[in-house]
Amino acid sequence: MELDSDNNTLLKTGLVITATLVVAKLIFTFFTSSSSKKKRLPPTLQAWPPLIGSLLRFLKGPIVMLRDEYPNLGSVFTVNLLHKKMTFLIGPEVSAHFFKAPESDLSQQEVYQFNVPTFGPGVVFDVDYSVRQEQFRFFTEALRVNKLKGYVDMMVTEAEDYFSKWGESGEVDLKDELERLIILTASRCLLGREVRDQLFDDVSALFHDLDNGMLPISVLFPYLPLPAHRRRDRARQKLSEIFSKIIGSRKRSGKSENDMLQCFIESKYKDGRQTTESEVTGLLIAALFAGQHTSSITSTWTGAYLMKYKEHFSAALDEQKKLMEKHGDKIDHDVLSEMDVLYRCIKEALRLHPPLIMLMRASHSDFNVTTRDGKTYDIPKGHIVATSPAFANRLPHIFKNPDTYDPDRFSVGREEDKTAGAFSYISFGGGRHGCLGEPFAYLQIKAIWSHLLRNFELELVSPFPEIDWNAMVVGVKGNVMVRYKRRQLS
Ligand code: HEM
Repeated sequence: MELDSDNNTLLKTGLVITATLVVAKLIFTFFTSSSSKKKRLPPTLQAWPPLIGSLLRFLKGPIVMLRDEYPNLGSVFTVNLLHKKMTFLIGPEVSAHFFKAPESDLSQQEVYQFNVPTFGPGVVFDVDYSVRQEQFRFFTEALRVNKLKGYVDMMVTEAEDYFSKWGESGEVDLKDELERLIILTASRCLLGREVRDQLFDDVSALFHDLDNGMLPISVLFPYLPLPAHRRRDRARQKLSEIFSKIIGSRKRSGKSENDMLQCFIESKYKDGRQTTESEVTGLLIAALFAGQHTSSITSTWTGAYLMKYKEHFSAALDEQKKLMEKHGDKIDHDVLSEMDVLYRCIKEALRLHPPLIMLMRASHSDFNVTTRDGKTYDIPKGHIVATSPAFANRLPHIFKNPDTYDPDRFSVGREEDKTAGAFSYISFGGGRHGCLGEPFAYLQIKAIWSHLLRNFELELVSPFPEIDWNAMVVGVKGNVMVRYKRRQLS
């Protein structure tokens, strides 16, 4: 009897456990299937070998990967990069949230952390968003129109001095020449007179070491003990010492200059605190990193296209002639602002060749996007979210014949850069973190090209350049050989 009752109890217990397990399994299945049904995840890139295939495809070149996969997977898809998932949002229909989301939803700090050893401590991606916002306010103030007017005079003088050293005629590597000129101009306008006039060689060598210390591997492992990283850290330290001396001597003399250095020295946080010497140095480095290669690359592409397409060269030249009839030789901020043809030529070079090919954010909350064909996808928090100016700027439903150099696509009546709203053209990003240096960059490139157009006949003698996809700031591959002959435009 006792055995029977034990058996019964055992049987009952067994049945209860089994039933519990079955119910638990059913509940689990119900919830997981309903939640995955609820979650409309984007398609995922499938690549071989498993686990690392997608990473290899990505490392081989994100633009090639996008070109191959966009036709199959569409404008929203996820790539598994080992422990991280990266979701691409391609095109203005799906990228608005990327550009507009508050920092609490999509942040830059984690994905741009690799800049910290280069920019130094206490600035930009090394500080909380509230401090970073204030530091970006310092940039905005240093790049206001009243300041830009002063910088333009320096840009024009630098261009005149530089090209006065060219002979009556000759051959140059335009890429190399424009790189040099841009660093001279950037030194004058951003780093200040002391660096430009006395310390130029030392400081450019140190910037060169900083530059060479930013390798593709540095994005993943910025502190890896590599010789290039060690040189970067030494250069950062030396720059800090140099700027500390300059700032000290400016403060002691009480003399004020019209450059970004002065703006940063005088900048104050909301609580009244002044910027430290180390912060000023870090912000200047950040400005140079944001603006130097991007601008010199764009100047070179602009020139290469102008020389390749005679009709655009002539249109830009005619505009210079008209402006000279109106203003004489004078070139200042307002004259540069009248150069619409040249502006469109630069903008079109930049559409085809944005130097920053991928922009990224870390997502901290779920969100969804709807594609132009009406599919809605849920992007879970924890993903890295990315968009690509290099790819999105050539979408055929936004830009007619997207691979053709056609500056007139931006003229009144066509305005293809606004086809699908604010994020149709994204060479300068847009929205919350849109480039703060865009007007500065255009003024600088116009100052260079208006001088070249007015003073030289130019001919491209090497083949039209290719894109150097391997550079961190994607630029022009090889030399760009140009034959020049001095002329007087009247
Ligand atoms: C042709 C030249 C330039 C190009 C193509 C360019 C491109 C860009 C892009 C794409 C972004 C957005 C990055 C993102 O969303 O993650 C950006 C941001 C920025 N750029 Fe530029 N840039 C240029 C020149 C400059 C110059 C000359 C300066 C300053 C002197 C500058 C300062 C900045 C700053 C401070 C930001 C950060 C804005 C923020 O996060 O709120 N840029 N730039």
